[in-house]
Amino acid sequence: MSLISRSAWGSNSKMTADIAEFARELSIEAGKILLRGFRSSKTIVSYKSNTNLVTDADRASEDFLVSQISERFPQHAIIAEEGSRKDAPGGYIWYVDPLDGTNNFAHGLPFFCVSLGIYSIQLKRVVVGVVYNPFLNEMFTAIRGSGAFLNGERIRVSSLDDIGISIVATGFPYDKAVSENNNLKEFNRILPKIQGIRRMGSAAIDLSYVACGRLDGYWEGKLQPWDIAAGSLIVEEAGGRVSRYDGGEFRLDYPEIAASNGRIHDQLIALLAGR
Ligand code: IPD
Ligand code: CA
Ligand code: CA
Repeated sequence: MSLISRSAWGSNSKMTADIAEFARELSIEAGKILLRGFRSSKTIVSYKSNTNLVTDADRASEDFLVSQISERFPQHAIIAEEGSRKDAPGGYIWYVDPLDGTNNFAHGLPFFCVSLGIYSIQLKRVVVGVVYNPFLNEMFTAIRGSGAFLNGERIRVSSLDDIGISIVATGFPYDKAVSENNNLKEFNRILPKIQGIRRMGSAAIDLSYVACGRLDGYWEGKLQPWDIAAGSLIVEEAGGRVSRYDGGEFRLDYPEIAASNGRIHDQLIALLAGR
């Protein structure tokens, strides 16, 4: 399985293709680490809070990913969820979520993944996105400008244009018990107006499912760049749209995202605003 034929790339683009292929291979290896701990009584769960967990599998996956990226691309910077930070002048930042969907993982639910989003400082954009669910063996990939793929097959967003018959996913922040900004307002506005809401428990999988048309939309706040770097590119490359809740330009350092198949985007934005 290859992301895209190398011959289609010029010199800069060959760099992007090399990064993409490496990220894809790495996510498969990190996925094996996760599978070893999945539904295993040996997995150690630590509680950052009642809602926010971390397991030894998160840490083992992150250690593996960070060491491999540093070895292959020593000039690339890395920002990973469980604390790894590396500054480097090479023009790319790897946003690494070594296990997106930790709560699912810790409960034996099979919606979790490795998410790798590679940002080009020159282009000010994510240029490569890889989201891999090792349990379902589903590999979502995208290179900017070259489409989005699931296990090597091109994917596209759904074509539905009425939000009233759509299925949309969302998520709730870890501080939901103590913060008023906990998505319940948006949830209450949107739930009665659509066919259904899903709470998959992995932002990267939510976005990938919008990209392949299983979901028509997704919104969530209080996210981090490693949750959404890869998935946002995969949605765009599948023909969908990502923005802020107010419809403004999506940015990685802005914590909220509204994603959709494009056709229902304005309807989703209107519902988020309570219109
Ligand atoms: C979480 C998942 C979840 C989302 C949270 C994220 P984690 O990431 O993506 O779906 O609702 O906001 O923090 O902690 O499992 O890597
Ligand atoms: Ca995450
Ligand atoms: Ca994580």
